[in-house]
Amino acid sequence: MRTLRLMTVSAPLNCNAPLHGKRILLLVGGSIAAYKSPEIVRLLRAEGAELRCVLSAAASRFVTPLTLQALSGEAPRQDLFAAEEEAAMDHIRLARWPDALLYAPISANGLAKLALGLADDLGSTVALASRAPRYLAPAMNTAMWEHPATQRHVAQLRTDGAYFIDPEQGILACGENGAGRLAEPSRIVEHLRLGLGPQDWRGRQVLVSAGPTWEAIDPVRALTNRASGRQGFALAQAAAERGARVVLVAGPCALPTPLGVQRHDVVSAQEMLATILRILEGGRYDLFLANAAVADHRPTTSHAHKRRKGELGESLAWIANPDIVATVHESPHRPRRIVAFAAETAPDIASAAAKLRAKGADVAIVNDISEGAMGGNENACTLVCGERVTSLPLQDKLCLSRALLRALDPCLR
Ligand code: C5P
Repeated sequence: MRTLRLMTVSAPLNCNAPLHGKRILLLVGGSIAAYKSPEIVRLLRAEGAELRCVLSAAASRFVTPLTLQALSGEAPRQDLFAAEEEAAMDHIRLARWPDALLYAPISANGLAKLALGLADDLGSTVALASRAPRYLAPAMNTAMWEHPATQRHVAQLRTDGAYFIDPEQGILACGENGAGRLAEPSRIVEHLRLGLGPQDWRGRQVLVSAGPTWEAIDPVRALTNRASGRQGFALAQAAAERGARVVLVAGPCALPTPLGVQRHDVVSAQEMLATILRILEGGRYDLFLANAAVADHRPTTSHAHKRRKGELGESLAWIANPDIVATVHESPHRPRRIVAFAAETAPDIASAAAKLRAKGADVAIVNDISEGAMGGNENACTLVCGERVTSLPLQDKLCLSRALLRALDPCLR
């Protein structure tokens, strides 16, 4: 009889956010997209980052210093030669302060100055004097972005080690439709999370399954379940934040792909299994997080054309789907660790864990879905790994995923 050791991990207020406590110096350049900079500040502060801002002369025509002060908690710096600003913190100390320098938006002029190493205002001087990694998010008219001069500067800055958050396609303020729109503030934050995250899973290959499966009766009807995919997508994101190479196999769900994650969309359990086996054949995986709510059964017959009401019959004949975890466990390309999930309405931890172990899982994660976790934004779970039982309280699914991966660390050695 094994003795289980129960540990309860309380939910940290900072959600284990990779940007918590990071110092970010935001340089705002002269582009109409400067109006999005307050949103960038707000999102970064919500992640627990410390912010300081520098506004170029042109940027202060598009966004007021007061707005940035209210959101960042400090008056933005604007002038290299302002005696009071320099007395509070001179530009060299300001350049040494950040963990990362984010230039968003950076204009064609800003790119040219950085590429040449010009230092004729506070932003360019601080950028030249800083050894912090540089994240550059350009925004400009399409012709300016595509101009060989701008592209030459971009190439030079990449060679110098700058990280680009490329502009997106879309309708620009000038009315043109093309490349040059500032990346969405939430996307900019995702880039910083990946860049400044702990990176302690670098070199690991992680496969995640997520979402429901859809077992077609005919082209419009199916056997499926209420899984939204949010937990699996959050797990993929949390693993990518720690530097892992992440492949996500997703059943039907309308969620954006987390940055840095390679996604394969599938529909049925059989298709999910075939895709997972093909991916495993192609590389050595350290970890399989089998989070998908795979339908246990599928209709015996799937009709090519929509059945009429009268043709549906009184009952549905179904057959069992293959068990993905068990098949992966038996496969020659078994990942080093398999983590399986049990969604239960009245969980008995020991028997749920035993059920998952019986199909080959090394670690069992049991979650109580009676509180609306399935399809909702929050979840709680219990992780069973050998004799170690860790209970993680109800929290946002991304925060839970980060905590869960930390609790998994000792089981991956
Ligand atoms: O037995 P139960 O369906 O509760 O097991 C859930 C776990 O097994 C999840 O990790 C799920 O991804 C996996 N599973 C599977 N293949 C199935 C059904 C569930 O791999 N056909």
